[in-house]
Amino acid sequence: MKHASHHPTPASDWYENAFDLTRGIAAYTRSPLVDGIAKVIAKHPDADIANAFNHKQVACKIWARDTLLQAAGKSYERIVVLGGWYGILPAMLLEDRRFEIAVAESYDIDPSVETVARTLNATHADRFRAVTADMYAIDYPRLGADLIINTSCEHIADLRSWLELIPAGTRVLLQSNDYFSEPTHINCVASVEAFADQAKLSTIDFAGALPTKKYTRFMLIGTV
Ligand SMILES: C[S@@+](CC[C@H](N)C(=O)[O-])C[C@H]1O[C@@H](n2cnc3c(N)ncnc32)[C@H](O)[C@@H]1O
Repeated sequence: MKHASHHPTPASDWYENAFDLTRGIAAYTRSPLVDGIAKVIAKHPDADIANAFNHKQVACKIWARDTLLQAAGKSYERIVVLGGWYGILPAMLLEDRRFEIAVAESYDIDPSVETVARTLNATHADRFRAVTADMYAIDYPRLGADLIINTSCEHIADLRSWLELIPAGTRVLLQSNDYFSEPTHINCVASVEAFADQAKLSTIDFAGALPTKKYTRFMLIGTV
């Protein structure tokens, strides 16, 4: 114990406090993902991990994970997450014992997130890969993924032309939203119907909406 409990904790100690607290929550919940977050706080203090794991991000990804299980089943050879950032969704999928996943990969154009994603997924090092790549430049037929996930379709200028890079019959999980006022959102949709019109999937296992305080998130699970 560094601080006597009657002393107010200086704000500057919050990095250390966040690390200790996260390690404690990891021990209590036995979650490899939470343990990974503690490691990220210690090794990559500049990573925006609190934003990436805020309760709204978590809610959208739990929605994706639970719906995927119901709509498309538990077994995957190779899951590829595009714009995967710190690899939180792969971590959530890999630690979920309801699933049987051989490999999950996170692709992101930002080279600085690769090592953070690896630290976050250190427990699953044998089943996780982080790759720096532009999602428009990936050779999808060669990847041979049986599930491709993109939870930031609102950032893709032309969703259909990106989907055309993916071999027909591949299963995809896509999320977008109606958060038009955020300037980096260049391709929001007003409804799940509009999202489905844009994606033109050949089969649909799930189409739905998750209202949040500021905006509604939409999700499609199906095959291209
Ligand atoms: C900030 S996250 C989006 C957050 C979103 N709510 C989510 O979790 O799905 C978007 C990520 O996509 C990445 N990204 C943007 N353009 C990309 C591209 N062309 N190829 C691969 N990744 C890209 C960014 O570097 C960023 O890490």
